[in-house]
Amino acid sequence: MIYLDNAATSFPKLPEVIKAVNKCLNEEGANPGRGGYNLAVKAARVIFNTREQVARLFNIDDSANIAFTLNATDALNMAIKGLVKPGDHVVTTILEHNAVLRPLQWLEMNLQVAFTKVAASPEGYIDLKELEAAIRPDTVLIVANHASNVIGSILPIADIADIAHRRHIPILVDAAQTAGGVPIDIQATGIDMLAFTGHKALFGLQGTGGLYIREDLEVMESRQGGTGSDSSGPQPMVRPDRYESGTPNTPGLAGLGAGVEFILKEGVENIFAREQALIERLMAGFKGIPELTMYGPAVGAKRVPLVSVNLAGVSPHMLAHTLDKAFDIGVRAGLHCAPGAHQTIGTANTGTVRFGLNYLTTEDEVDAAIAALSDITKRHE
Ligand SMILES: Cc1ncc(COP(=O)(O)O)c(C=O)c1O
Repeated sequence: MIYLDNAATSFPKLPEVIKAVNKCLNEEGANPGRGGYNLAVKAARVIFNTREQVARLFNIDDSANIAFTLNATDALNMAIKGLVKPGDHVVTTILEHNAVLRPLQWLEMNLQVAFTKVAASPEGYIDLKELEAAIRPDTVLIVANHASNVIGSILPIADIADIAHRRHIPILVDAAQTAGGVPIDIQATGIDMLAFTGHKALFGLQGTGGLYIREDLEVMESRQGGTGSDSSGPQPMVRPDRYESGTPNTPGLAGLGAGVEFILKEGVENIFAREQALIERLMAGFKGIPELTMYGPAVGAKRVPLVSVNLAGVSPHMLAHTLDKAFDIGVRAGLHCAPGAHQTIGTANTGTVRFGLNYLTTEDEVDAAIAALSDITKRHE
């Protein structure tokens, strides 16, 4: 099978990741931080090591400011609801995933929070002047996608962070599509909060993710409970314990650590270059099919390794179905949980078919996808 749905979740997982998960299950699987015996200490070390690797990847100086979560959605919910208060205003973009939009809509409906969505061009870029103009005296947060999961465009988060900081507003970046594939430097950009997911370009298991929170930024934890560290009195304020009540996904985090270690070894810049070459190869091949519309930045512009397309006269679901049944190629059709991005490219009614590559995708797989699309096009002529 040719798996090209890596923008949804990466598959297959790296052998290193599977090995680390197995090792954890076989040799380190006690409850971390909840006992002083050897196995519990080993489990705690697994999580500590993963936190340190993630800190290296994003250039975070103190790994205690990274809280592990279920996924990016969990991290984004914690960041948004933990910072925004009733009556506040938030600036965001039309490109956001529902993991950002729906918490904001919930706050709007329940806590009189207002938010402004900055529009984007069909190539998936926002006008920074428009973003700055959307800031109001009561704006307490800017939330921005690092890369659109529909359009593939990469937003200039360092510039957005500059604007936010000039206005003394924290910025939350949704790095679900970029963590592991696009360089992110917390210390250089001063990004205040970064939400990431473990199961896409970080090669980890589903059910892993995290949130970096700047050390002096007050964000309310999303739940209280046992942390293993201090069982007397109310919720401890010490990080990361404050944000991680309950038994964590230790085997999943063991896998995430191995995924991040692999990325650090390969180098994010090298991963980005390979993924860019692969997506350009796919897009160059697709360009030879006149009936196919490709959305987002032109061939050659920097993007994450995904491209959304539509074939004239064939619905996205039918196209994805044919790719699956006739060619054994797995891709995703629909709105991809980001309706505003589809409004931006004019596909809100139909959706698109999204091809999601990653570092492990081969040139042969890319060429097979191009050949399959040509074949399907000919059948519809
Ligand atoms: C841009 C973006 N944000 C957030 C998410 C949510 O990630 P998760 O499903 O891991 O919570 C996704 C996943 O598709 C995404 O692409």
